[in-house]
Amino acid sequence: MSELSVNHLLGIKYLTKEDIELIFKTANHFKEVINRPIKKVPSLRDITIANLFFENSTRTRLSFELAEKRLSADVVNFSAASSSVKKGETLIDTVNNILSMKVDMVVMRHPNPGAGIFLSRHVKASIINAGDGAHEHPTQALLDSYSIKERLGEVKGKKVVIVGDILHSRVALSNIFALKLQGAEVKVCGPKTLLPKHIESLGVGVETNLKKALEWCDVANMLRVQNERMDISYFPSTREYAQQFQLNKKMLESLNKEIVIMHPGPINRGVEITSDVADAENAIILDQVQNGVAVRMAVIYLLASKINH
Ligand code: CP
Repeated sequence: MSELSVNHLLGIKYLTKEDIELIFKTANHFKEVINRPIKKVPSLRDITIANLFFENSTRTRLSFELAEKRLSADVVNFSAASSSVKKGETLIDTVNNILSMKVDMVVMRHPNPGAGIFLSRHVKASIINAGDGAHEHPTQALLDSYSIKERLGEVKGKKVVIVGDILHSRVALSNIFALKLQGAEVKVCGPKTLLPKHIESLGVGVETNLKKALEWCDVANMLRVQNERMDISYFPSTREYAQQFQLNKKMLESLNKEIVIMHPGPINRGVEITSDVADAENAIILDQVQNGVAVRMAVIYLLASKINH
């Protein structure tokens, strides 16, 4: 297979296993490119990309911009906070105005679930979802699986536990779809109040005891509690959460085995994970960030090849 089955990247649930394999194969090539002294290829000199961020971001925003520049695309950046959105301009008007300046592709982070899907139905551009509310964060899940494959050789058959605030996490949902598609076993672990009802219907196991979950897994993906998305009444106190769900050195040493530790960032050090664990050799948190550039280059390159000029 040499092309993606989709014209947009709106969520992992729209991808096939073959799409993921193609993205990873293409990312392997771009990973070599970005490790060379000249980290660029001229592949997308004819493409212009707008990065629209309606929510805060560090990793995703910079990673997309670097990926686009490494592919030699022209890049414009849009931050809602300093735009005419503040004067009441709609999303569709905003994007159509940007597209009229001959922009081909839109990367968008938005607080509303489904914002990318909505946009793809109303504008003529290739859309990449860079995180839409608590719905999906597809490039995060792709770089997470790519990093597991890089560290463990395979995703298929691996046991992955996603720990934390599953209810409000787009990273969790996209990871569940991506990992299941590739044949991994997946469990979620967290306080009952932060686990979605019927999560088992996605084919994942549920565990509320962190030690049991860690004893089972090969990989632990630790998530931040997303206070910005919740009513405070959902939540045990931060202290209670840390007592029950924090990955710390004592917990790791009690396992008598080594596990791979992941975190999508930003890390709330001392809450879901302690610094000594986040910075340990078997934590691949910065590898995830580094791989994000190559994986996003692959996604952009493959979607750009489907644009008819
Ligand atoms: N992982 C992630 O999406 O981080 P940012 O919010 O900083 O982009």
